[in-house]
Amino acid sequence: MSEQEPQELLEAHAIGTDPVRLEGADKVRGRAPYAYEHPMDDPLFLFPVQAQIARGRVSELDVAAAEKVDGVVHVLTHLNAPPLEDTSDRELAILRDDRVGFRGQYLGAVLAETPEAAREAAGLVEVRYEAEDHDADFRGRPGREEPEDAEDDVDTGDVEAALGQAEVVHEATYTTPMEHNNPMEPHTTTALWEGGTLTLWMSTQGVHPARRKLAPVLGLEPEQVRIISPHVGGGFGSKGVPHADLVLAALAAFAAPGRPVKYAVSRQQMFSITGYRAPTVQHVRLGARADGTLTALSFDAVAMSSRTKDFPEQAAKPARMMYAAPHRRIRQRVVQLDVPVPSWMRAPGDAPGMVGLEIAMDELAVSCGLDPIELRARNDPRTDPDTGLPFNRRRLVDCLREGAERFGWADRDPVPRSRREGGWLVGVGVASATYPANRQPGSDARVAFTGGRYEVEIGAADLGTGTWTTLTQVAADALGVPTDQVRVRIGDTDLPRATVAGGSTGLASWSAAIIDAARTFRDHHGTDPSPGSQAEGTAGKNPASERLALHSFGAHFAQVRVHEATGEVRLDRMLGVFSAGRIVNPRTARSQLIGGITMGVGMALHEKSELDPRFGHVVNHDLAEYHVPVNADIPQIEVSWLHEEDPAAGPLGARGIGEIGIVGSAAAIANATYHATGVRVRDLPLLGDAFLPG
Ligand code: MOS
Repeated sequence: MSEQEPQELLEAHAIGTDPVRLEGADKVRGRAPYAYEHPMDDPLFLFPVQAQIARGRVSELDVAAAEKVDGVVHVLTHLNAPPLEDTSDRELAILRDDRVGFRGQYLGAVLAETPEAAREAAGLVEVRYEAEDHDADFRGRPGREEPEDAEDDVDTGDVEAALGQAEVVHEATYTTPMEHNNPMEPHTTTALWEGGTLTLWMSTQGVHPARRKLAPVLGLEPEQVRIISPHVGGGFGSKGVPHADLVLAALAAFAAPGRPVKYAVSRQQMFSITGYRAPTVQHVRLGARADGTLTALSFDAVAMSSRTKDFPEQAAKPARMMYAAPHRRIRQRVVQLDVPVPSWMRAPGDAPGMVGLEIAMDELAVSCGLDPIELRARNDPRTDPDTGLPFNRRRLVDCLREGAERFGWADRDPVPRSRREGGWLVGVGVASATYPANRQPGSDARVAFTGGRYEVEIGAADLGTGTWTTLTQVAADALGVPTDQVRVRIGDTDLPRATVAGGSTGLASWSAAIIDAARTFRDHHGTDPSPGSQAEGTAGKNPASERLALHSFGAHFAQVRVHEATGEVRLDRMLGVFSAGRIVNPRTARSQLIGGITMGVGMALHEKSELDPRFGHVVNHDLAEYHVPVNADIPQIEVSWLHEEDPAAGPLGARGIGEIGIVGSAAAIANATYHATGVRVRDLPLLGDAFLPG
């Protein structure tokens, strides 16, 4: 075991128990309002006008017919929009001028007394364009650009020479598709501009980060913006940073002072406005000795990005730290096109990057005649190949071995296409999982004793993950009281500042502030405080991150069947085993991990946004045609974790689990389809045709 940062671990009583979600009853009774549902007097409704070309300019805008629709109060365009202050983020700098940078870009909005009137009038806004040649064809384009914001290239040793001398070489190209987040609750906002204050009831992964980003764009001081977001119906990253829909809602609110403006981004609008996972092409070259020991690792990733704003989907990231190889070359490039702006989707970089790397490792195992688990064990590095730091706890091999045991891996016949059941070919596959265990500095918490109980306040977010419940458990343990003596308040910029629920950092980061506040409270007020006593705490940078490479690990196992005649792929069962530090609430944790794997099933088998390069828009922009897994696609998913506490991760001993469930899960399924059929498919999603001859 690596050395540990000597942090004092929180003593656990409530932690590790599995209370049901505290807000669950409110949710099923309709008492937990989402952003669009906050009861408002006299609201206005917004419907946007979106560009119908991928590049060019608006030459004429005629709003006369729209303004005549009964109930229309205002039509907002670049000709009359209130000015924006900070326009450096081009995604948010909307309605500035007549330029069009992608199809679906906001050109304006109608505000009306009813949603129907707003929608009807938006359709009557007449727009004429001067279209310019656009480029929205990622796969057809050779161009490669250095991303503005990506990790450096890696060049260690001499990869070409090592590949030339390697006893076994594997080289292949893998692709992952464009994918869109589809949380059940779309991006919704109720915006009220009144008395110099903008109040936003919005669906966000972080009220304070959203305010920090938004206030300067709107030319407001942070204190002039209040964001309220107690309940969020899923985000997966798409609500991690504000998108243009918020700016549009705010501009509309400025145009109608004193009246709340409601905007629910429609499912179809989400496909051009609220970000997506960019498609990638991953060229992988592995060189190894006959016994499977890697000598060379070369990983070249190219991701689609947008000309409006660069966002590199960093698929090359996990190759930096997963396996040991003395000779290494790693590149991340982007191709900027006239397309909507990509953004975060559950495990950005790692989820797509582990598709190429983990299928490649499976292929190398086949070439070496090795069990894929054994191949990974032989290349498990002792220190982080990327930073040279020791790992906090690298228990990848433990996860693989425990998973193999539970899954019945030993029963498998290593020969592909060796198991037939009726018309189905059955196979099993394995892949590794990893995700960094980051903790973000910059959260504060307040603990106050009110007499009967302790109020714990922090502006954290619950995306449906269980934050209300787990923070209550953490606070109860930190104060040494039962959970029913604690009331947590989250999701409001009026509460102490909190960092974003993103990058699997939420629980570890916010808990550090709560634990600090609770310890300060006890130091100052003892265990028998007088009513009104309070204390504050703060979470700084994790000191251990200077000396240790902090990551979680896991192993995915999948059994699939592929129909011999149709190529249809069905999942039989999956198992994930994770090393993620202490698990605060097994019930909500299990749900998070199963959710991540389910999204990985979607990545492997269903999800693909079809961008038509002729027009620059996603054709299958709704849930009828953009397929996500449904109940019938998910037979049995089992998850478990190693029982451990990680003091290096912080006083909670927990690393994040929001994202690791998806990482590697698609590759395990892809590897299982190879084992079932003997056909290697390197492009996701794994569609039936790929397994059929000819
Ligand atoms: Mo998540 S993609 O880290 O918000």
